[in-house]
Amino acid sequence: MMSLIPNNSSPSQLPFNIAKLAELLPTHLRNPQVGIVCGSGLGTLAESITERVTVPYRTLEGFGESTVLGHRSELAFGKIGDVSVVAMLGRFHAYEGFPLATVVYPIRFMAALGVQDLIITNAAGSLKADVPVGTIVVVEDHIALPLLTGFNPLLGPISRPAASRFVPLSDAYARPLRLAAFRAAHVLGLPRSALAEGTYAWVSGPTYETRGEAALLAAAGASVVGMSTVPEVVAARDEGIRVLVLSLVTNMVVGVLPGTGGKSVRQELDAELEGKALERPPTPTVSHEEVLEVGKSNAAVMRRLVERIIISIG
Ligand code: 6GU
Repeated sequence: MMSLIPNNSSPSQLPFNIAKLAELLPTHLRNPQVGIVCGSGLGTLAESITERVTVPYRTLEGFGESTVLGHRSELAFGKIGDVSVVAMLGRFHAYEGFPLATVVYPIRFMAALGVQDLIITNAAGSLKADVPVGTIVVVEDHIALPLLTGFNPLLGPISRPAASRFVPLSDAYARPLRLAAFRAAHVLGLPRSALAEGTYAWVSGPTYETRGEAALLAAAGASVVGMSTVPEVVAARDEGIRVLVLSLVTNMVVGVLPGTGGKSVRQELDAELEGKALERPPTPTVSHEEVLEVGKSNAAVMRRLVERIIISIG
C-alpha cells in the first residue's frame, strides 16, 4: 500500500548525485538551463541534443526505473543550439506504484543543477471535439482531483528551509513560455490548428476514465486528460522553476463525443423485438499502443517545436 504521505527525504541524495555527475560530464554541461521531460513515444526529442552524454538513472541515487513500455530510463545532457539542457527519457508515474516523492525527485535534482525552465511533454486524451488527435495543447492550467484530495507531492515537511509552505498554482504555467510556444509554431510555419491552449486534467490512473468521469472533467473545463505531469509541475513550482507543458493529443476520450455512448441496451432490445436490423452500440476503447503510435508519428513536430522554443528562450 502506497503511503499517502510522500517522504521528502530524497533531496538528501542530491550531494551524491551531483558529485557523480561531475565525474561523468564535462564542466560546461553540468548546469543546464533548460530541463525537458519526454512523454510517451516522444523520446526522440533527445536526438536534437548535441554533445550528448547520457546517464542511466541506475547510476544515480533516488531515481526509479521507468516500467512503462515506450519509456527509457536515462538522462541526456548536452546542448540545443547554444542552450545547455538536460532531458529525462522515461519518467515515473504514480500508477507504477512510485511514491510521489520519487515521481518528482528528478525535478528536485534538475533544480539543484540550476535548471530555470522546464518543458514537459506528454501524451493525453482529448475531451473536446475541436481538439483532434495530433493537436499539441499548450497547457494553461490544470485540474487535479488527486491534488485536491490528499495525493500531493508537497504533503509532508517543506522541501527545503527556503521553500514556502503554501505553493500558489494559480499561475503555474508561465505565460512567456506559452507565448514562446505559439511564436515557435508560427516561425516553423505550422498550421494554426497544430496548437491549441487548454486545461490538463490529471488523473492518477492506471485505469482510463469512465464515460461519466470524462464528462465530469470536460464539464469542469478540461481540454485533455492524462496520468502524468502535474506532480512534476507542482515540484517545479515549489523549486521556483518556470514551466511549459505540451500535451500531444493521441486519442479522443471515450464517451465525451457525440455518438460514442452508443444506444442503451433497452433501445437495442426494442430494435431486436421489432425485427429491425440490430444496431450494435460502438464499443470504443483507448489502447496504450494507439497512444504510442500517435506519439511516434507526431514526435517530429514536437521535436522541432521544442527545439525552436528552447533556442528562443536561451
Ligand atoms: Cl483517454 N486518459 C488518460 N487518463 N490518459 C491518457 C489518455 C486518456 N490518452 C492518453 N493518455
